[in-house]
Amino acid sequence: MEHKVYRYFQKLPFVFDPNKLERALDQVLEIAPWPQQLINVDKKYQQICLTRKKGQKAPDCYYEGNGGVYHVFVDGKEENRQQDLDEGEYSEFISEFNHTYFKEVYDEINNYCKKEYNGVLGRVRLMLSKPRASLSWHRDPEPRLHVPIVTSFGAMMIVEDEVLHMKTGEAWFADTEYYHSQFNGSEVDRIHIVASLVTSCSSCSIVNKE
Ligand SMILES: [Fe+2]
Repeated sequence: MEHKVYRYFQKLPFVFDPNKLERALDQVLEIAPWPQQLINVDKKYQQICLTRKKGQKAPDCYYEGNGGVYHVFVDGKEENRQQDLDEGEYSEFISEFNHTYFKEVYDEINNYCKKEYNGVLGRVRLMLSKPRASLSWHRDPEPRLHVPIVTSFGAMMIVEDEVLHMKTGEAWFADTEYYHSQFNGSEVDRIHIVASLVTSCSSCSIVNKE
């Protein structure tokens, strides 16, 4: 079947083992459960960090990298939200998770990003989205890479006018410097690895938008 050509998404040329991803998720949750403090009032979204700033100690590092700056479109104009942070500081994979498959996933994606995008990974997070939850219409300071661990058709990412369901184990570049959102229209939790891509130039977008 012919693959659709995307402007804001690019499929990376490797696939991760879905069973190993689920096992790694269980291993991480044994060490760092989903945070109990409220990320969103309705707890529709929760995050666990797989990378940290140098010197950060467990267990704080599992949750410290949550949030970040983003730009949201409100009443016809853009507003900045949340605290500023330096993605480049979050370059250390948390050693407490070194025994999990996520370390392999991290190394493979990080090496690929060095070669293909002249960039490195900043924050790498597990992101949980509950059924029938959506994000705001916003844009981020950097692109993101996604690896779905648990998902079901009906969980969709939207960038500008493109919509994509990412399958378990696939790896995708998403140009989240453009306006985007996500909704989980499925009946199950959606859990992705979401990695920020830090490049030396802000216009290293790999996709031709013309
Ligand atoms: Fe985003």
